[in-house]
Amino acid sequence: MPASLQESCCSYVLLISRFKVCCSADRVTVHFINRDGERLTATAKEGESLLEVVVNQNLGIDGFGACEGTLACSTCHLIFEEDVFQKLDAITDEELDMLDLAYGLTDTSRLGCQVCVKKAMDGLTVQVPMEVADMRRELEVGKQSK
Ligand code: FES
Repeated sequence: MPASLQESCCSYVLLISRFKVCCSADRVTVHFINRDGERLTATAKEGESLLEVVVNQNLGIDGFGACEGTLACSTCHLIFEEDVFQKLDAITDEELDMLDLAYGLTDTSRLGCQVCVKKAMDGLTVQVPMEVADMRRELEVGKQSK
């Protein structure tokens, strides 16, 4: 092999290995326990919301994220492990208001559209509650019955 070609191949291999290190460094593994108990595993990017992880990787959680992250449905309700929950960013009043309307609320509940993936979450497991409430439908039903 000519020296110039060998050098360019080595440079190429070096470039690829750097790319892999770079790409794997900002990847985070997240597990969702679905309503039926099935464990769904996804590789997320730092900065993505958990709603984006579910949608982008087509995880098949029925009815999840109906309002597409506009804080209008509470279908993205997730239950976190206590230690992880304590490290999440502070909850906003808007998220708290919508979360209050979710079924099966726990002390470690958050809305997946409002929680962004961080490297420290690698290996995170979140529970999808058994029941889901789409507050947009509840409000529509309320309007029609008046
Ligand atoms: S997707 Fe509707 S509140 Fe999160």
